[in-house]
Amino acid sequence: MAEKLDFISIASSRQETLLHVLEVAKRLKKQRKETGQNDLLASGGGGKVLACIYEKPSLRTRVSFEMAMFQLGGNAIYISPNEIGLGTRESAPDVARVLSGMVDGIMARVFEHQKILELAEHALVPVINGLSDYSHPCQAMADIMTIEEHFGKLAGLTLAYIGDGNNVARSLMAACACFNMKFRMAAPPGYGLEKELPGLDFAITPEPRDALRNADVIYTDTWVSMGQEAEKEKRMAAFQPYQVNAELLKAASRHAVVMHCLPANRGLEITDEVIDGPRSVVFQEAENRLHFQKGLLAVLLCGA
Ligand code: CP
Ligand code: NVA
Repeated sequence: MAEKLDFISIASSRQETLLHVLEVAKRLKKQRKETGQNDLLASGGGGKVLACIYEKPSLRTRVSFEMAMFQLGGNAIYISPNEIGLGTRESAPDVARVLSGMVDGIMARVFEHQKILELAEHALVPVINGLSDYSHPCQAMADIMTIEEHFGKLAGLTLAYIGDGNNVARSLMAACACFNMKFRMAAPPGYGLEKELPGLDFAITPEPRDALRNADVIYTDTWVSMGQEAEKEKRMAAFQPYQVNAELLKAASRHAVVMHCLPANRGLEITDEVIDGPRSVVFQEAENRLHFQKGLLAVLLCGA
């Protein structure tokens, strides 16, 4: 039996796998737009089933995984934050063992990244990281898909991330390394990222204008991620100069696009004028969560 394939982080994935998933995602997106349904996951006794575990809220991740499974002819089971009690009512390894006997794949959104690692280690079926405190790889890959759609290429482009060195920033940095893009970052001292990836063209600065000069993609995310609510006041003060607004964008290239993984705190990390403005590709980016996830599920659950 072939070894199961998980999707835990960009950095722990093989470049050729990511490229293959992207190709499948692009093909499925095109097919969907042109001909409608593609039921790759329908065969085999009523269709494949994905268990979706949530310790935190979600709009995009939940709807995109559920729709991806439905559109491919399979099913998704939503498991609410209180239902399992991952690590309290029941250990992550036991949850992994039980679900492996009943479903074809597990997607989990968790607080501690360690829980994803434990699920993956003990599950006999593929495990997908739907966001942890450490990484958000499905988001970063949907972003890569969006950037390629917009520019027609990836290699050589520069992504400037303005804001917190969080799960999304870390995954984007790894994606830049994987697809030969440059990564620039502007963050207050203490909130940046360490360059962990060999070969990545990386620079970090406290000055947003320096980061986004000559960038092709300008990216931001919330200053207070889920689970960091106790630090809200301190973070609000530290990040005030990092708002992506029209004034800041005067320093950007004319062709640069603006991205945000959403949900956005309009008026904090990004203004209405920017997110609703001509440079914004955020809703194309959100839709691509569905298309990337379909490629991922097709590859992981049925070896497409
Ligand atoms: N971007 C993203 O993951 O959105 P949700 O938290 O709504 O799933
Ligand atoms: N960094 C954010 C991303 C939300 C999609 C969080 O973890 O809350």
